Amino acid sequence: MSTDRGIDDTTRRKRKTRSSAAHGKCMLTRRQFLLYSGGTAMAASTVSLGLFPGSATATTAKVVGYPRKLIAKLSELKDNVPVDFNYPDDLGNSSAMIVKMGGVPAGGGLGSQRDVVAYNYLCTHQGGPLQGSYVAEGPHRILGQCPLHLSTYDLTRHGIVISGQAYESLPQVLLELDGDDIYAVGMMGLIFGRHKNLLES
Ligand code: FES
Repeated sequence: MSTDRGIDDTTRRKRKTRSSAAHGKCMLTRRQFLLYSGGTAMAASTVSLGLFPGSATATTAKVVGYPRKLIAKLSELKDNVPVDFNYPDDLGNSSAMIVKMGGVPAGGGLGSQRDVVAYNYLCTHQGGPLQGSYVAEGPHRILGQCPLHLSTYDLTRHGIVISGQAYESLPQVLLELDGDDIYAVGMMGLIFGRHKNLLES
């Protein structure tokens, strides 16, 4: 029977690195990104992530794991046409959208072009509805302006605020690709109107 007793720290680190690399479908490492297990996740953690693809600039964000849910087929997504879904449940404020951003890479982006992202639809300021506000102009991919106080969010950089009254990034839905199937597997950031992201935990 194998045991970890007697294994030095270097060996343990190598094992963890191999495990993360084996799940390279996500932008963040598996260990940082996926904290769910089975049907319901209970874990929460703070991770460090790059704001810009290929950049060393880093920030931190709270990640909470969720049940895995099939939300779209990669082959069926059309460039710059958002598709709506609910996540992590069908309760209040769970409306969200997934979009393939026409080849513009993004933090947390999925697919060969890293251009598929998903976000909650509620403005983090006072919960204004962001449905129908997706904008694709040149290299910019934006959600907003919010109809209440004009906040806009950058979908290429983990939903950071570009302008307006909001000061918290838009909650990003964490995605995983399995063949042609796209699964939501977690949230990054707190959904507006909730005290915690997992209502049943
Ligand atoms: S609710 Fe969206 S900016 Fe205030």
